Amino acid sequence: MQHILIKDIATYLGQEICLKGWVRNIRQSGKLVFIILRDGSGEMQTIAFKPDLGEEAFETAKRLSLESSVIITGVPKQHPKQEGVYELDIKSVQPVQIAEEYPISKKEHGPDFLLSNRHLWIRSPKQWAVLRIRHTVYYAICEYLNDNDFFRFDSPILTPNACEGTTTLFELDYFDEGKAYLSQSGQLYLETGIMSLGRVYDFGPVFRAERSKTRKHLTEFWMMDAEAAYVEHEENMQIQEGLIRHVIRTVLTKCDRELTILERDKEALQAADAPFKRMTHYEAVEYLKSKGSEIDHGSDLGAQDEVMLTEGSPVPIFIERWPKEIKAFYMKRDPENPDVVLGDDLIAPEGFGEIIGGSQREDDHDLLLARMQAEKMPIEDYQWFLDLRKYGSVPHSGFGIGLERLVTWMSGIHHIRETIPFPRMIYRIYP
Ligand code: 4AD
Ligand code: MG
Repeated sequence: MQHILIKDIATYLGQEICLKGWVRNIRQSGKLVFIILRDGSGEMQTIAFKPDLGEEAFETAKRLSLESSVIITGVPKQHPKQEGVYELDIKSVQPVQIAEEYPISKKEHGPDFLLSNRHLWIRSPKQWAVLRIRHTVYYAICEYLNDNDFFRFDSPILTPNACEGTTTLFELDYFDEGKAYLSQSGQLYLETGIMSLGRVYDFGPVFRAERSKTRKHLTEFWMMDAEAAYVEHEENMQIQEGLIRHVIRTVLTKCDRELTILERDKEALQAADAPFKRMTHYEAVEYLKSKGSEIDHGSDLGAQDEVMLTEGSPVPIFIERWPKEIKAFYMKRDPENPDVVLGDDLIAPEGFGEIIGGSQREDDHDLLLARMQAEKMPIEDYQWFLDLRKYGSVPHSGFGIGLERLVTWMSGIHHIRETIPFPRMIYRIYP
């Protein structure tokens, strides 16, 4: 018997086929047992009818518990009332394993309980939908980069130095070599790659020992860093915008069902696929002050500031040209104003906050060295990074996207912890 996936059911109407999956739900009504079967690709109702199945097989069907694994054969047909919905008349039921009483039920569970049962929770419809959106976002990012001449260039996770400051570093002992650190971003290594391949990106887990307990922070998350030679600040932002708009369009086309399950406002997502707004950091602070915020010109944006800035804006906003004191050492100084750097943060609409951090990089050896010395960085550890400014330095730029931040926005969910199979947070490492 041909094993097919539920997603393909419409092409097999009237033919006897086989489905392999798990019991999402089961209820009996007289001579009928209704089993909602899910198989990873989708779910559908299957119906056991006692007179057709016979006593013994009917009893087997009845005994299935929630989440039991089962192989069902039968004939799919159009649902009598709902267009585009199918159901299957069961011919045979073969339990693979009868599940014990499943701990996750329809009743409301608290987040702690669900997170402790994350290994099971991922089977629930909303989690299934978010994880599929994550998959789609991942591929959409790679697709855009591949189509725009970026080469994948994998950066190491064990590193001898910090990329984004020393306050959020995970440290470990590395044999006789002293301390090693888990990468916070592959950026510095990507800068080497462009001198060989022109345009490069990496995509992998990065680590931040964030003490913050917010709905936007994980201690392990996935970052896509992209870097391009001979690309300056303006073009850098154009690439970011093109990429994000490609992701939005792909999610809207490929994940319609998932967005429906999540009750995502699709129109809001659609509206974000239009030219992005831009503000300098200076303008952003002026605007925030006019709205009553107590922020000053030397400060980073807080979560509340990000919400306030994007209120009423259907599209993301680039905040560019930041005071150099609050941005990383590698950002290039604005030739028109040495107090600011050519960095950009992209803030998502609907209160989802920063999704990208990027900048043009300092390509002048002496300026970079001076900045590193001023920050008292251990120059020996970064010699290789400084070398890039000695052997054919070029203007270049790049950016990093937090995958989970982007998936949170696409999915329209409240907390970032649901966007990664096994979230790592300050108070959670299990399972
Ligand atoms: O803004 P960040 O720190 O930038 C960098 O690391 C650069 N080196 C990237 C580059 O230029 N190649 O981080 C980039 C993005 C943020 O905009 C945010 O989306 C995400 O990574 N991010 C986090 N996501 C989840 N949890 C955290 N703790 C995050 N910290 C940053
Ligand atoms: Mg940032």
